[in-house]
Amino acid sequence: MVKPFTEVTLNNVDWSISNATLRLLLTHSARQVGIVKDVSRTVRIGVLGCGTVGSGLLELLESRRSHISKTSGVDLEVAGVAVRSASKDRNYPVASELLTTKAEELVTSDDVDIVVELIGGIEPARSLCVAALEAGKPVITANKELLANVGFELYELADAHGVDFLYEASAAAAIPIVRSLRESLVGEDITRIMGIVNGTTNYILTRMDEEGADYSAVLSDAQRLGYAERDPTADVDGFDAGAKAAILASVAFGKKVVAGDVYHEGISAVTQNDIEFARNLGYVIKLLAVAELFEPSDESTETEIGVRVHPTMVPKDHPLASVRGSFNAVFVEGAAAGELMFYGRGAGGLPTASAVLGDLIDAATNLKRGAHEPVPAGDRATIRPIDSLHSAYYLNLEVVDSSGVLAEVAAAFGRHNVSILSMEQTALPADEVRSGKAEARLIFITHVAQESDMQATVADLRKLDVVAGIVNMMRVIA
Ligand code: HSE
Repeated sequence: MVKPFTEVTLNNVDWSISNATLRLLLTHSARQVGIVKDVSRTVRIGVLGCGTVGSGLLELLESRRSHISKTSGVDLEVAGVAVRSASKDRNYPVASELLTTKAEELVTSDDVDIVVELIGGIEPARSLCVAALEAGKPVITANKELLANVGFELYELADAHGVDFLYEASAAAAIPIVRSLRESLVGEDITRIMGIVNGTTNYILTRMDEEGADYSAVLSDAQRLGYAERDPTADVDGFDAGAKAAILASVAFGKKVVAGDVYHEGISAVTQNDIEFARNLGYVIKLLAVAELFEPSDESTETEIGVRVHPTMVPKDHPLASVRGSFNAVFVEGAAAGELMFYGRGAGGLPTASAVLGDLIDAATNLKRGAHEPVPAGDRATIRPIDSLHSAYYLNLEVVDSSGVLAEVAAAFGRHNVSILSMEQTALPADEVRSGKAEARLIFITHVAQESDMQATVADLRKLDVVAGIVNMMRVIA
């Protein structure tokens, strides 16, 4: 059914034009010359997906209805919820007349003003977003995989159609980092962003650290609590954090950065042993997403961006070290603003839905005003490869315990220009001895060195007879 607008003062309007089409036409012409006072107070939403986040959003739309109406002047109403199976039990009861399995029809329906995509993955999410944007409807998404892979195609489409494409929930869920970078920090010269942007891995590392807990048992708890992705390798291998790093780097630096640009390592190689050594040396191990901007210098004639995700030793007195459990935090370093930290819940149904709701209200009020938020644009980023990046390093080695060993090991560092900051030796307990050669453990922390030099050092150490094994190498925040 075509719903008439509430306060249109145009004469001779052809009411057979659909609500959405007419609204689009008016947005671009009539409202600009002041002949439309208001379109409608009621904004109708098509929700794609009704999992943890979708259910959370429906719950918030109900419980916050009158508050939203009072404070923003729009009434948000659910027009339909597209699901794979209409008969499935859901966390939040959805009226059966709202449920549909025909997502394609919902996104282009005249009865829908804004589309919220909460399906996840690239397809069919991408095609549905394209259909909605081409029909002139604003789209809200929480889908980091979609954005980090094909986001720029969608941003451009939204811009061409003059509608919002908002994605606050896609990076660190409830933390308003995208809006802060896009609006409050838009004039800031941001040099580096470091984030704990995956709740599952932070939850696992925190419990391993504080309780000495076993990795796989803690992972099951994270899945039960709803932090983990359906396929937890996305969390533990760093893909999820990598996608968020690409999104944040694009917004912060105004360049196109995609998932494939991000170097990533996961947390599966982090042992209890590393956690204990880190603690004794005054560090906490965190899976960090790091995005850095390098202005032209001796090393490069153009601006470059480095984006990486890996386990990192964070000094205990750094603000990121205190981020425990499933919490996320994003630490932003700006030339004028200095250091800022954004902290909060980066996973879970209601925290993610809260960010989606904020975007939804923005898009609804923009729709009434005929405005839309800017989308990330800019050129394709020139990526500085991991080999050229610099960091301090932690190295955990097992060696033969006899005279001359330390000198041989130290010489390998020296050959590749890596300077040792500190070294500690402990005898290996009998139950940790994995080969006849492994008698002692050497823990090194280096000064800041180039990654390729550190990798060359490790390759040399592997070849030494006195080295029984390289247990782990980790970057350290100096
Ligand atoms: N699985 C993600 C996390 C949540 O653990 O942070 C959504 O991105």
